[in-house]
Amino acid sequence: MNVYDSTRMLDILKPLGYLAVHAQDDADLLILNTCHIREKAAEKVYSELGLVRQLKQAKARRGGHMIVAVAGCVAQAEGAEVLRRASFVDLVFGPQSYHLLPELIGRALRRPGGGVLATDFPVEAKFDHLPEPSAQQGVTAFLTIQEGCDKFCSFCVVPYTRGAEYSRPVAQVLTEARRAVASGIREITLLGQNVNAYHGEGPDGGPCGLGGLVRQLACLPGLGRIRYTTSHPRDVDDELIAAHRDVPELMPYIHLPVQSGSDRILAAMNRRHTADAYRRIIERLRLARPDLALSSDFIVGFPGESDEDFQATLDLVGEIGFAQAYSFKYSQRPGTPAASAAGQVPERVKSDRLAALQLALDKQKRQFNEACIGKILTVLLEKPGRHDGQMVGRSPYLQSVHVATAAERIGEIVPALISEASANSLSGSLVEAVGT
Ligand code: 5AD
Ligand code: SF4
Repeated sequence: MNVYDSTRMLDILKPLGYLAVHAQDDADLLILNTCHIREKAAEKVYSELGLVRQLKQAKARRGGHMIVAVAGCVAQAEGAEVLRRASFVDLVFGPQSYHLLPELIGRALRRPGGGVLATDFPVEAKFDHLPEPSAQQGVTAFLTIQEGCDKFCSFCVVPYTRGAEYSRPVAQVLTEARRAVASGIREITLLGQNVNAYHGEGPDGGPCGLGGLVRQLACLPGLGRIRYTTSHPRDVDDELIAAHRDVPELMPYIHLPVQSGSDRILAAMNRRHTADAYRRIIERLRLARPDLALSSDFIVGFPGESDEDFQATLDLVGEIGFAQAYSFKYSQRPGTPAASAAGQVPERVKSDRLAALQLALDKQKRQFNEACIGKILTVLLEKPGRHDGQMVGRSPYLQSVHVATAAERIGEIVPALISEASANSLSGSLVEAVGT
């Protein structure tokens, strides 16, 4: 989502004469678009700011001026603290304020050294104030359809940094998608912190869910693939399951975070679902789309997590079988309920559990990749590979696939017979006779 936000920031800056540069040292404006989800991500910002300070000073010695901005969720959560710890920062603005960039930059230029702060949640919807996105490069694109979250999982900062749930109207999403397709995009990934809570205003004025939106997007000529991320088990509804059954453009791959396999921990996390409820959702999805593969997020070492609780997570992993997954050590986030909960788990225990979980998940990922050998998978060709005459694309399951073909075919969705699998990618050859 930060990648998407950064491209939209560029869209709003272009009319002011700004262009993207490839080297930061000579930039007139340097924006760090930050993540606050875990402590490590937030720490990176302050260490990166150390380097940025040197760039700014070097540019000043050359007689230039660099405006330094901190954007995103660290800006939202830390606010004035960023200006206190890094007084050379000119501008701090949250993820819901970047449509105000022209005005904020104006203020920063008028008051050099003053430090401008924009971390209120504005009442107007940011998306109504952004220019149309400019032509996209490449063949895949992100499109934010939903932002914020009302779930308040007890470990998570998102409801505080991104704010309340908001869904963009269907018409706005379709317009943006049409423009993307016109500029050569073949695959769109719909984004939202809680994307399947989407309930945008539909053409009839009533709310439209994610399943309904997917069906409308699938009608756009030229759009070959649709994905969405990231979703919450509670918000997987009948309509979405039916879309997986009926819409071939909707890829048979879902990132559906479960976090833990223990009901006790899921309750303490305020996830509002049990491990069994998760199992049932997966069952229904697989019934609708038998070739569906799964990805997930896991947190180990949540406060109060016992060996038995952790074992329940391993058991769930064993039962479901994930094509890939992300797993994290629980990270105390200031201001969230779990940060002050009793039973914080020692670092060493967290590390051991993470290693054990990742071992199990890596094994499943390898098995999933190996099971692709001998199968024909469709591949959206994205870019040249490392070797001459080789192109890289993605399978329906987001695996990188290397095939020998010509660069002119980038953007095509082609069938490939998979012959090799490694931990992170597949190789194969095009099956020309089958057609695209
Ligand atoms: N500690 C560890 N992991 C976290 N996540 C969110 N908050 C925390 C935290 N405090 C993970 C969850 C979520 C993913 C985006 O990041 O697994 O699904
Ligand atoms: Fe955070 Fe996701 Fe829970 Fe929302 S649903 S609070 S974004 S983990």
